Amino acid sequence: MEIFNSLMMLLIMGQFFIQLGVSVIPVSTIYSPDGDMIDCINRADQPAFNHPLLQNHIIQEYPTGMPQIERDVQKNWQIWHETGENCPAGTIPIRRDLDPKVPHKKQPKVHEVTNKATTGHKYAIAYMQNRQKVYGTRVTLNVWTPIVESSFDFSLAQIWLASGSYETADLNTVEAGWQVFRSRYNDSQPRLFTYWTADGYNNTGCYGLDRPGFVQTSSTIAIGAAIGCTSTFVGTPFDMTLQIWKDPFSGHWWLALGPNIVPIGYWPATIFTTLSDHATTVEWGGEVLYRNLSGANTVAQMGSGEYADKGYGKAAYFCNLKVAENNHTLLPVQDFSLRDDYPKYYTVKKSSNRNCGNHFYFGGPGPQRSGAVRGTVVSAFCLVFVFYFI
Ligand SMILES: *[C@@H]1O[C@H](CO)[C@@H](O)[C@H](O)[C@H]1NC(C)=O
Ligand SMILES: *[C@@H]1O[C@H](CO)[C@@H](O)[C@H](O)[C@H]1NC(C)=O
Ligand SMILES: *[C@@H]1O[C@H](CO)[C@@H](O)[C@H](O)[C@H]1NC(C)=O
Ligand SMILES: *[C@@H]1O[C@H](CO)[C@@H](O)[C@H](O)[C@H]1NC(C)=O
Repeated sequence: MEIFNSLMMLLIMGQFFIQLGVSVIPVSTIYSPDGDMIDCINRADQPAFNHPLLQNHIIQEYPTGMPQIERDVQKNWQIWHETGENCPAGTIPIRRDLDPKVPHKKQPKVHEVTNKATTGHKYAIAYMQNRQKVYGTRVTLNVWTPIVESSFDFSLAQIWLASGSYETADLNTVEAGWQVFRSRYNDSQPRLFTYWTADGYNNTGCYGLDRPGFVQTSSTIAIGAAIGCTSTFVGTPFDMTLQIWKDPFSGHWWLALGPNIVPIGYWPATIFTTLSDHATTVEWGGEVLYRNLSGANTVAQMGSGEYADKGYGKAAYFCNLKVAENNHTLLPVQDFSLRDDYPKYYTVKKSSNRNCGNHFYFGGPGPQRSGAVRGTVVSAFCLVFVFYFI
């Protein structure tokens, strides 16, 4: 009986890990207070290595030349760390998908700068396009909890680096930020978000580690796991820094993020076509998928849910925009363009000051319906965290 039960357990667990694309048993599993299960997987067993172009890939341990990063001072700012547990060295944390019956549908997620004829996707962004050679970007943005009532819609704040074009099906992107997406995560928390495509969102492209490509090195940050702290209205902003930077030594696009800039992992240059050498477009800002499927005028806020002109303390911001152009040095951005195709719902506005350089605010309430309230998810963990962090 005992043995039978153990075998059954192994079978059930096997199902989960086939879904990860690897038939591996986790080294350990951490049960997060928000219901997430975080599996610690040996780094060499991660999904990335199922990619046909990464069969003999040698992991780059650390981006040695990466500018201004912190090595060991990552404060644990995701909710799954609330238990005090961490994944052992040599493993990476993977958020377990609890509902295999709902596969991660390919989102019709289309790049607005290159294709305006998209349904449902609404952007309020800043961008630089048709550049010669872009090797990276860094920005500090604050994290909010926008209300997204229809579970199949989402709201996010992110950076994009792109090359190629949607029309010629060679659009390549790497993307990272935070996202509220209930049908994917079954809650309203802002979660760490990454995405990439190598063919204009057609066959390749995926969230986080869903499909092979992104090579994770960090054992402390789980892509897709909830960020414990968010900004409060006219209160303390909770900032995170995002950086994607092309390592001149390996050619990999390294992602670094967090309250401190800590390397999380990288997209190998070999999985791309137009992006393998450099990007030509950088975008920063908000995107909402609002489809009004129910016809019930559900609410889908962007950023803090306030329009950009509300400014500091109220609207969401991207601060200290930096771009590495022509060489791998990140320098403050001098000028950039803005786009908000639905200013009735979501806006974007430039600003400039000494602390944030040339920066911008973005966001809005989206389609309105009486009785909608501001989202606030601030855990006790966050308050402790902020205290510790100060
Ligand atoms: C989704 O959340 C609800 C309410 O918290 C819970 O009862 C349900 O089990 C969750 N579903 C999954 C698949 O996790
Ligand atoms: C998308 O992929 C399908 C299947 O591989 C292919 O038939 C189609 O031509 C592709 N579309 C574009 C725009 O590349
Ligand atoms: C949502 O759908 C309903 C029914 O089709 C329509 O009347 C309403 O204007 C739509 N709302 C928005 C904000 O698009
Ligand atoms: C990189 O380029 C910028 C201007 O484009 C220049 O100011 C900087 O000195 C360059 N850095 C290196 C290391 O060449």
